[in-house]
Amino acid sequence: MVHPIKGDFFNKCIVSIDQFDKDDILILFKLASDYKFSFEKGEVFEDLKGKLLTVLFYEPSSRTFGSFIAAMERLGGQVIPIQGVSFSSVVKGETLEDTIRTFASYSDAIALRHSEDGAAVKAANISPIPIINAGDGTGEHPTQALLDLFTINDHLGRMESIHIAMIGDLKYGRTVHSLSKLLSLFPNITISFVAPVASPMPVEIVDLIKKRGVVINQRSKIEEVLEDVDVLYMTRIQKERMDKKTYESMKNAFILIGELANRMKKDSIIMHPLPRVGEITTDVDDNPRAVYLKHQMRNGMFVRMALLKLILLK
Ligand code: NCD
Repeated sequence: MVHPIKGDFFNKCIVSIDQFDKDDILILFKLASDYKFSFEKGEVFEDLKGKLLTVLFYEPSSRTFGSFIAAMERLGGQVIPIQGVSFSSVVKGETLEDTIRTFASYSDAIALRHSEDGAAVKAANISPIPIINAGDGTGEHPTQALLDLFTINDHLGRMESIHIAMIGDLKYGRTVHSLSKLLSLFPNITISFVAPVASPMPVEIVDLIKKRGVVINQRSKIEEVLEDVDVLYMTRIQKERMDKKTYESMKNAFILIGELANRMKKDSIIMHPLPRVGEITTDVDDNPRAVYLKHQMRNGMFVRMALLKLILLK
């Protein structure tokens, strides 16, 4: 079942960022920082020795799939990796519920990626072991939001008083849904949404975060926000979630090139959940503001290590 964390992660399903409050974030990030610090010094961990995580991915992924596996194994745990369900009983018509029950009888938790919104809640409602939502359709991607905020804090040294621009497919991109809600827990947040007209941030999310005090700007070009923001968060157009015509109409809508990146504030950062498909040109990669390749992904492993530890051990 899905419950607020309220300081106690043990045995909980993580399906939405709505389960977290500020204190939960502080607990998680403290442990993630400790792991990061010790890991970078060469420490080897055995905290999750004897624990088994099923990493069950119904949608293509390499990064998040690998990140959950790395997190579990870096803590001495083990994984059942299932990717490409075309080789599994799912093609015989097995329901999600039955697949979850199956792997719940072998393992201690399941990281689930699925193409349907709400799949993680559905799984959590029947699972006897914790479900971690690793992305459900156009819904949420809570662990990505957590690693994104961890990275922001790592570079800016704060989680409040931030102006972030979210750029790209804000309707179908689940990472920005979770990240907007997560940021709204903190004071003095401004979010500038820059999206194609056909793919805006869902109105329920805009209303919710506005109620929590987030200042929202709707803009139509990167150039309109570039020089003002602390964080530029680029996303890809979610080709697989729309028809071909819609995709063609927005595919090159926003592209960050080196020359634009150079105009950003000195201490600002450029993020992307990846994969990118052309919306950040490679000449941006060596810009000191670019954290997507060098830091953001690696932080994902530390945040997932901390989350797995807190869920699996009392
Ligand atoms: C994102 C996802 O799957 O939602 N990728 C990821 O997990 N790092 C972003 C995307 O696919 O565009």
